[in-house]
Amino acid sequence: MMNIEKIRGDFPVLHQELYGKPLVYLDNAATTQKPQCVIDTVRHYYEKDNSNIHRGVHALSERATAAYEASRETIRAFFNAKSSKEVIFTRGTTESINLIASSWGGANIGKGDEILITHMEHHSNIVPWQMLCERTGAVLKVIPMNDAGELDMDAFASLLSERTKLLGVVHMSNALGSINPIETMIQQAHVVGAKVLVDGAQAAAHIAVDVQALDVDFYVTSAHKMYGPTGVGVLIAKQALLEAMPPYQGGGDMILMVTFEKTQYNDLPHKFEAGTPNIAGVIGFGEAIKYIQSIGLHAIAEREKTLLDYASKQAQAFEGLKQIGTAKEKACVLSFVLDGVHPHDLGTILDREAVAIRAGHHCAMPVMQFYKVPATARASFSIYNTEAEVDALFAALAKARDMFA
Ligand code: ALA
Repeated sequence: MMNIEKIRGDFPVLHQELYGKPLVYLDNAATTQKPQCVIDTVRHYYEKDNSNIHRGVHALSERATAAYEASRETIRAFFNAKSSKEVIFTRGTTESINLIASSWGGANIGKGDEILITHMEHHSNIVPWQMLCERTGAVLKVIPMNDAGELDMDAFASLLSERTKLLGVVHMSNALGSINPIETMIQQAHVVGAKVLVDGAQAAAHIAVDVQALDVDFYVTSAHKMYGPTGVGVLIAKQALLEAMPPYQGGGDMILMVTFEKTQYNDLPHKFEAGTPNIAGVIGFGEAIKYIQSIGLHAIAEREKTLLDYASKQAQAFEGLKQIGTAKEKACVLSFVLDGVHPHDLGTILDREAVAIRAGHHCAMPVMQFYKVPATARASFSIYNTEAEVDALFAALAKARDMFA
C-alpha cells in the first residue's frame, strides 16, 4: 500500500490554504508539483556548484559537469536508450519537436512527401509540421479518431504509404487522457519506411517507456510534467539518425573547431546542445526521475488509475456533466463540460473553492473542434492527490451548477 500522506509530505506547495480553504491541486497535466528533493537539488547547485559546464578546469565546473552528465545517464537508463549519445537536453517537448522538424525534416522531407499526425495532437506536434510543409511542399495528413477519443486504426493503416516519411503521434493525449497504441503504430509505420516521433510529454510520468523495445526513432518529453523543473526536456533519438542530422542551432559547445573557413561540429550529444544549457534544470530533472523511481512507475500508474476510476464514477452520476474523452485506455485526465456553465466560469468558481483545474482548449484546438466545444474543464490527477480531493472537486462543481441553475 502506498503511503499517500508521506508522499504529500514530499511536496511543500500542497500545504497551503487559498481563500481560507485547503488547496486542491488538480492541474497536474499542465505541470506537476515539485518534491522537496528536486527543490533541494536545484538549490544545492546554485548554492554550492554554480558554474558553467564542459568548459572550466576548476573544481566547481567539474562538479557541475559531473552532476549534469550524471543526470543524462539517469535519464538514459530510465528510458533505456542505448547510449547517452542518444539523449539530447532541450528546453522541453516543444523545442524537441521543433528540432526534429527543422533538422531531420529539413534534410529528409521534400515536395509530395507525407507527414502523418493524429487528430488529438497538441499544437506543438502540429504547427512545426505545418511550417515544414509550407517550406518544402510536403503534405500533412491526419489520422481520425472516434467519439471516445480513440484513434481509427483502420484509417491509420490506409493512410500509410511509401509516401509517408514521418508519423508523429502523442503517447497520451493531454486533452483527453487517451493512451495510444504506439507499439503497433511504430511497427506499422516502419513497414512503409516511415520514421516515428512519439510525443511523450503527458505520458512519461505515468507509463514506463523503453525506447529500444519500442524501436521508436524519436521520443520527446518535458521535465516539468514529471515532477522536475520547467524549461527543460529531452529528445531521445536513434544515434544513426542524430549522426546524420545537421545541427539545429550553432554556437558554443556544439563545435570541435571553428575557423572562418569551416566549422567542425562536436560529437553527440553536444552537437545538439548549443549554448549554455539549463544546467540547474537538467540536474533537477535527474533528481525528479530518481524520485519517480523511488516510488515506482507501476505503483504510480495503479494509484492514478484508482483515482481516475473514482472520479469518473462521480462524473457519470453528475447531472449535466458530459465527459470529453472516454477511451478504454486512458490515464489521469478528466475533461468535461457542464450544461449551462462555460468552462472558464467553472474554472473561476472552482478556484474560489481552492480547487485548481485547467479550463481552455489545452493547446489542442482540433480536439475542441472535433467535439464542437469552445473549451473543456480538465481535472488531472497525480500521485499525491486523494479521494477527498476528488470529493472536493465534485462539491465545488455542485456549487457552480447551483449558481447557474
Ligand atoms: N500542455 C500543457 C497542458 O496540457 C500545458 O496543460
